[in-house]
Amino acid sequence: MIRRQFLARALSVAVASLSARAAIGQHAGHDMHDMSGMSGMSGMSGMEGMDDMAGMQNGAPHATQPTGVTLASPNALLAGAPLAALRKLANESSDPGTFRATLVAQPVRRSLMPGRQTSFWLYGDAAQGPIVGPLIELREEDTVEIRFVNRLPEPSTVHWHGLPVPPDQDGNPTDPVAPGESRVYRFTLPRGSAGTYWYHPHPHMLSSGQVYRGLAGPIIVRAADDPLVAWPERHLFFTDLKLAADGSIAPNDMMDWMNGREGQFVLVNGARRPRIVVTRDERWRVWNACNARYLRLSLGVNYPFAQVGTDGGLLGDARDGLTELLLAPGERAELLVRAGQWPSQATLSAAVYDRRKMAMTHGNSLPPDPSRVLADVRFAPAGAGAGAAPTPHALPSPLRPIEALQPPAGTVAPQKAVVFSEEMDMAAMHRPGATMHEMPAGMRFMINGATFDAARIALTSRRGEVEHWSIENRTDMDHPFHLHGTQFQIIEREWNGTKRKEPYLAWRDTVNVQPGETVRIATVQSMPGERMFHCHILEHEDLGMMATLKVV
Ligand code: C2O
Ligand code: CU
Ligand code: CU
Repeated sequence: MIRRQFLARALSVAVASLSARAAIGQHAGHDMHDMSGMSGMSGMSGMEGMDDMAGMQNGAPHATQPTGVTLASPNALLAGAPLAALRKLANESSDPGTFRATLVAQPVRRSLMPGRQTSFWLYGDAAQGPIVGPLIELREEDTVEIRFVNRLPEPSTVHWHGLPVPPDQDGNPTDPVAPGESRVYRFTLPRGSAGTYWYHPHPHMLSSGQVYRGLAGPIIVRAADDPLVAWPERHLFFTDLKLAADGSIAPNDMMDWMNGREGQFVLVNGARRPRIVVTRDERWRVWNACNARYLRLSLGVNYPFAQVGTDGGLLGDARDGLTELLLAPGERAELLVRAGQWPSQATLSAAVYDRRKMAMTHGNSLPPDPSRVLADVRFAPAGAGAGAAPTPHALPSPLRPIEALQPPAGTVAPQKAVVFSEEMDMAAMHRPGATMHEMPAGMRFMINGATFDAARIALTSRRGEVEHWSIENRTDMDHPFHLHGTQFQIIEREWNGTKRKEPYLAWRDTVNVQPGETVRIATVQSMPGERMFHCHILEHEDLGMMATLKVV
């Protein structure tokens, strides 16, 4: 469907109804200035779209809408502190093989902007330390028992993103924990599950708001025989934060719901643009825990790195010499960053990536965000200059054996099709009583033609059976596909009739799908029950771009 044209037409109707058009334009100019993601856009040809977009944010055509939120300046948070180490969730058990802990979700007030308080929702009290959930460090074959206490004013769940836990322990939207209640999540990790995971809430229609208020944290599962155990580790947990000028967490506006929320701040372990000093070769684990922001990570062309792992652990062989790596929302990776031979200075940045965010006028996409610095990195190889630079660690090859996931010889894998589509009805969005901050009416992001319905089973799989899924994106923007309960392998990607075999084997639970693209994966589920699959732009998930897989 020619949505963009439809949008433009519907929008012109909506805009025509704005009586104070000029005033809104002025207001918009002010806000645009404050939106860091947009700061590189002045003078760009997309200003017309910007104007209307900002009008959507501020220009309340209806009395029911709150007045515009003025955002804090993109410099309002201090930068340049040393990268904070993650807090750790303490293991209360002394039995080897058992991890037992309590995880409390609660409102926590912290001062990030000088002189202003921000009310976050965090795991743990986090009176100090990074505003990121504590790191849960586990080992393969551990039995995990985590008591979750919900001290939030609304229902929540804990979803163990990427881990092969039983469906009834996976924080599905159908298993909410009411405010003031608690429950124990219990699971045992299989061998081979070492990797980089995370946890976050998954209550229906509330995930976006809970994550953007601060509820997300990292998980590492370690293997007994990790070939990279000698490499010192560094953890970079990326989150997105959108603050109003008064220090409060700004609510979602219509553009946030449509394109996924992106704040004016990208935080690394809870801080803006921290400083990293690399004195030895390091293994970095990176998490994209942003609601919607894509991170095309780069240290610059002069600082190639190796990728050694994806969501579900190590690759078969390192991919060396990379100068950038795209991490879609929800994705993780393991990298090797070398200290080099000489002292030098670089920046870790999110390079320009065009995910085709929708504009609201004239059938155009918004221009992509300019590149942004995430952290300053100083390479200071120990012993450099004294002729005694440390010998770099050798890279083991293979890192581990990975076999292609295939159905038994002589059989054909069952096929499943997932189609992303969208429908925008601007008239409905602007009907009196429609709100900009709750879930807007008239915006539909769908899977196989429908939005989420907890009572509907979209697909059924047999456990233990290797299946081939195709995920097709018939919308105009990128969407990261995520499947619960397992790790899958990408077989190939097709775009415009051209198929590209995936050049290497890797275990993933999240894969970006570009507009017009079809990604084919091999996947298998091992436990009976209901699994979710959805777009990991959390606003889209909340709007219903999610469906249920029943495993029998
Ligand atoms: Cu990370 Cu269903 O989510
Ligand atoms: Cu998940
Ligand atoms: Cu999406």
